[in-house]
Amino acid sequence: MPRTKITVPDIIQKKQRREKITMLTAYDFPMASILSKAGVDMLLVGDSANMVVAGEPNSLTATMEQMIYHTRIVANALPVSLVVGDMPFMSYQLSSQQAAENAGRFVSEGKAEAVKLEGGAEFIKEIEAILRCGIPVMGHLGLTPQSVHKFGGFKVQGRDEAAAKKLMDDALAMQDAGVFSIVLECVPAELAKKMTESLDIPTIGIGAGPDCDGQVLVTPDLLGLFERFTPKFVKRYAHLAPLIEEAVKTYIDEVKTGKFPSEEHIYK
Ligand code: KIV
Repeated sequence: MPRTKITVPDIIQKKQRREKITMLTAYDFPMASILSKAGVDMLLVGDSANMVVAGEPNSLTATMEQMIYHTRIVANALPVSLVVGDMPFMSYQLSSQQAAENAGRFVSEGKAEAVKLEGGAEFIKEIEAILRCGIPVMGHLGLTPQSVHKFGGFKVQGRDEAAAKKLMDDALAMQDAGVFSIVLECVPAELAKKMTESLDIPTIGIGAGPDCDGQVLVTPDLLGLFERFTPKFVKRYAHLAPLIEEAVKTYIDEVKTGKFPSEEHIYK
């Protein structure tokens, strides 16, 4: 039976049914098609694109134009998976109006079905403004990479009691505001478990242990396509970079030796 389009209510119901949720990042049409066909629930057009596609050292220089472009070409795959666009640094932090306008662009220009933004209770007003426009919002707590300079690097968050309490309070405030799920990044597993048990909405973990309602990974990490660095929480399910290199070496060799193009690839 063909799978039917996954919606925001479907994601919330999965938690109620205790069904694990899967999310992967996607940045373009071909990968979005494959990931959707494989059965992933949500495609996150993450601002990690700035690192794993554009080669920048962090996500801070990602722009609205870049993110809308990636979101639109992911949506063009017409995935069964829910498409979530990631709001880049300084696209929502300044005011409710800015947040709503830019979230609206993700939907009207990027064809996103939801947006994600980083940060806790301090952005409740911005989250509410986006929700008032009818745009579902996914939260993101813990190691929020857009605050990398404040954290002094990509470090596990919520280790001491005060920080753990702030994360829990932030999550509850965001749930009350109406977010439909929350990414927990680099949070101790025990704390992520407590947060997951305290919330009615799903938690999607990345480096947050096995008890979150779902998991997310950066697809080029999972596929072994991004080799600059690999965080501890990544499991590599394939190593495609050397396979691609081998295929391209064969192509170069066949062009040089005249083996390609052969009869079957020539028009007559
Ligand atoms: O940008 C991204 O890919 C993300 C995930 C790591 C959750 O925010």
